[in-house]
Amino acid sequence: MRRPLSLSAAVLALPFFLLLLFSSTAEAHNITRILAKHPEFSTFNHYLTITHLAGEINRRLTITVLALDNSAMSALLDKHFTVGTIKNVLSLHVLVDYYGAKKLHQLSKGSTLSSTLFQASGSAFGTSGYVNITNVKGGKVGFASEDNAGEFNSFYVKSVMEIPYNISILQISKVITSADAEAPTAAPLSLNVTEVLPKQGCKAFTDLLIATGVAETYQSNIDGGLTVFCPTDTALNDFLPKYKNLTAAHKVSLLLYHGMPVYLSLQMLKSSNGVVNTLATHGGNKYDFNIKTDGEDVMVKTKVVTAEVTATLIDSEPLVVYEVDKVLEPRELFKAVPGEEDEEAPAPKEAPKKKKTKAPSPKASEGEGEEEEENADSPIGSDESDDEPADQKSDKDGAFGSEGQISIVVMMLSLWFGVLLV
Ligand SMILES: *[C@@H]1O[C@H](CO)[C@@H](O)[C@H](O)[C@H]1NC(C)=O
Ligand SMILES: *[C@@H]1O[C@H](CO)[C@@H](O)[C@H](O)[C@H]1NC(C)=O
Ligand SMILES: *[C@@H]1O[C@H](CO)[C@@H](O)[C@H](O)[C@H]1NC(C)=O
Ligand SMILES: *[C@@H]1O[C@H](CO)[C@@H](O)[C@H](O)[C@H]1NC(C)=O
Ligand SMILES: *[C@@H]1O[C@H](CO)[C@@H](O)[C@H](O)[C@H]1NC(C)=O
Repeated sequence: MRRPLSLSAAVLALPFFLLLLFSSTAEAHNITRILAKHPEFSTFNHYLTITHLAGEINRRLTITVLALDNSAMSALLDKHFTVGTIKNVLSLHVLVDYYGAKKLHQLSKGSTLSSTLFQASGSAFGTSGYVNITNVKGGKVGFASEDNAGEFNSFYVKSVMEIPYNISILQISKVITSADAEAPTAAPLSLNVTEVLPKQGCKAFTDLLIATGVAETYQSNIDGGLTVFCPTDTALNDFLPKYKNLTAAHKVSLLLYHGMPVYLSLQMLKSSNGVVNTLATHGGNKYDFNIKTDGEDVMVKTKVVTAEVTATLIDSEPLVVYEVDKVLEPRELFKAVPGEEDEEAPAPKEAPKKKKTKAPSPKASEGEGEEEEENADSPIGSDESDDEPADQKSDKDGAFGSEGQISIVVMMLSLWFGVLLV
């Protein structure tokens, strides 16, 4: 019975939602862009991107980044950690609280503990994800992992940028060392595409990857994140006659089309709901497709075929492999199916009739049959999504709990705009 309730809440919250949507999109910080203005942090910036910490930082509204310049970073890189370990170390440098330069020098009792993204990641043992900030002798501010045995090796250097109470970027002199953060990560980056995929039920597709050399491209994308859509062996066998007809270059494009150069967990995939690029995307060649969510189901729509994600074969960040029930045929290589093109437009018929968006229309509530579970435990963007607007508002309006409701809201929004225009 809470369905109608949350719907009317959605309608009531609409002007609010619009405000939030626009303001949060406009105000959101972008750590990558901010640091790009400071070449001395280029290595640090690069690693924030490839470890996906940048997205995490952008999503948070109150955050302090302890930035390391290129020489401090090279000391870290000299240790030859895996990207997973570097991620843990750097996440210890992102405090989930706001510390401007002023506050740093005026700590009550001269010392404090701050939680970090490392603590938040769940990879830290006990409280090892806390950073001890202490005003030490000579007006210096020292940083150390919580269990520091009285030693501070890293010190405040200067403030790089502060937007009070939203984001502060402070340069510190050295990497904050922590045995826990530097421990080898559980998911080693020795993931080898040609070894791991066939073991997890993706055999026929991997054979094609190897035969064409595309496996190497997949492999080289793993560290930065890779999402693979692997057609079942049956789907692939049915497709083989068409495949054999393709030129060598088109075979490569087709296979690259099944990979995306980012790691998208199922949750992220569901909330990405829209057009996404693939490894085949290159200049004028779009080679993109649409992700569509319908309750628990995730569809990949290419304008030629609609494939369903039928299983998650591997999910070990930075690599995730989904099984799909059809080969994804890009419209660049195959004839688009008429009608698939404009399928996304919401049912236009009933829009003009509506005056005010008061009562939930019966039509609107139809779509959300099977997703009670989802509402309960996974508010959109609750954890790792990179989708900013959704995330930034997630605390404030629980009413928009699931994708189904989001699409209703989107429908409502278009109605609202319709009303505004009249
Ligand atoms: C942040 O800025 C970088 C560089 O300008 C850009 O590539 C990236 O898409 C931006 N991220 C977001 C979430 O806007
Ligand atoms: C921070 O570390 C110093 C030195 O080990 C210790 O004396 C201090 O109590 C710590 N601060 C907090 C808030 O735990
Ligand atoms: C800080 O973030 C809040 C919430 O997104 C926003 O309303 C505010 O304008 C931001 N402040 C600045 C100075 O950007
Ligand atoms: C992956 O495994 C295959 C087969 O064992 C091997 O030939 C290849 O060199 C490995 N690739 C990498 C990048 O380790
Ligand atoms: C292969 O290409 C030929 C020539 O374009 C075409 O006649 C044939 O139908 C194609 N076969 C398949 C299975 O697509």
